[in-house]
Amino acid sequence: MELSADFFAFAYLIATILFIYGLKGLSSPKTALRGNMLAMIGMALAVSVTWMNPEIKNYTWIWALLGGGVVGIALALRISMTAMPQLVALLHSFVGLSAVLVAVGTFLSHSGSSELSPIALIELAVGSVIGAITFTGSLVAFGKLQEILKSSPLVFWGQHLLNLFLGLSLLGCGAYFTMTQDILSFGVLIGIALALGFLLVLPIGGADMPVVVSMLNSYSGWAASATGFILNNQLLITTGALVGSSGAILSYIMCQAMNRSILSVIFGGVGGDPTQNSTVAQAASKGVQSASAEDAAFLLENSSKVIIIPGYGLAVAQAQHAVKDLYEILTEKGVEVKFAIHPVAGRMPGHMNVLLAESDIPYDCVFEMDEINGEFSSADVGLVIGANDVVNPAAKSDKSSPLYGMPILDVYKTKHIFVSKRSMKAGYSGVDNALFYYPNCSLIFGDAKATCEALVAAIRGA
Ligand code: TAP
Repeated sequence: MELSADFFAFAYLIATILFIYGLKGLSSPKTALRGNMLAMIGMALAVSVTWMNPEIKNYTWIWALLGGGVVGIALALRISMTAMPQLVALLHSFVGLSAVLVAVGTFLSHSGSSELSPIALIELAVGSVIGAITFTGSLVAFGKLQEILKSSPLVFWGQHLLNLFLGLSLLGCGAYFTMTQDILSFGVLIGIALALGFLLVLPIGGADMPVVVSMLNSYSGWAASATGFILNNQLLITTGALVGSSGAILSYIMCQAMNRSILSVIFGGVGGDPTQNSTVAQAASKGVQSASAEDAAFLLENSSKVIIIPGYGLAVAQAQHAVKDLYEILTEKGVEVKFAIHPVAGRMPGHMNVLLAESDIPYDCVFEMDEINGEFSSADVGLVIGANDVVNPAAKSDKSSPLYGMPILDVYKTKHIFVSKRSMKAGYSGVDNALFYYPNCSLIFGDAKATCEALVAAIRGA
């Protein structure tokens, strides 16, 4: 029995609704699991219905593509939480590459025929350009996050002019291609877009990387949507538009949180040179104080209010369960404990929320930056665990700092500050942290997990 077009349209509509509810669920850690489940059901429905499409004449390649699914599962099982951003960047690059391949394949199989209307040619040009920019841009982002490339911005003289020239060439080449169907101009168009993807992401780095990843997420959505137009597949169009617009909204929200204009992130770049870390000797000469876990434990258990600021180092150390033990023992001793989350703490949106949820720290003591910033001055101790950039007061006071303008967690206002880290190295942006030189701040050197365990042991032993 041949299934009707209405059947496919209805099934795709259900899948789209499931995706929308899935995205809605992702807006809070409490509903994120359910959101993921709904989106997975939607995707399973979309794939199985597409499988039944009578237009598919040969299943050989589709079976072969299932191998990709097996690789995906193997990768997902092995990947560590801290490597998620680079995995996501790599996956975006696949979406971009697919969009280019679909456009090229469609063009080659219909080239010269009247089936390629002007609209279809525009779709091919737009799909391949967005796909190519997403592909190379995401590869650069992957390289930076994986530290294969330098994470700091790579800027050279005439960069913006070169990008402008390439952008204009792209428009000219695209117009020529859609008017003539010339295969050479199609190739040049894709080549320019590939170069532009590289050049647009290379000058971005440091603290702006999260915005780039979410922007590439948005590009990959638009690339998928363009592929949907080329293949005349409504589900790809709507799903791509959902990913594209949610990625764009997330980029906007992150830019606001970082106090950056989206244009300066796209064309600018922020960040010092991470190789220029301050040394312990430099630190000592500036009067940085260090403390032992025992010193910190004494103040912690004698506090009435403690605010814990988790950062990327907590994820590296996998200290979330040790932090939960610390939370429990302090709460048992009558100390009010709150967690403060910066929007870009860690290496991906919601990174800290996920870690804290993993160790069952109650949601009602976890606060976003805007909710908690007013409370630091009334706290006795601010305990910074593996965070650096997100608590750097230079972002507020030092106009020459590359972080200047980024909102931070105001832990510097707390009576006593303890920072758990391993060395005097800078954070992701490569910028020295002014907080470490505050008279109310002491550094507890060592791995965050070991430090938290030592704090718990010291409080228990006391
Ligand atoms: P960072 O500024 O990167 O600082 C992390 C700190 O953790 C470092 O100072 C490091 O110092 C310490 N650390 C690392 N391993 C540790 C361990 N095992 N034990 C104890 N400390 C350890 O982190 P942050 O404050 O969370 O800020 C995040 C930064 O990443 C921002 O610049 C943000 O823009 C960027 N970023 C964010 C995202 C998203 S979406 N969240 C994505 C990409 C980039 P030591 O080496 O001395 O230990």
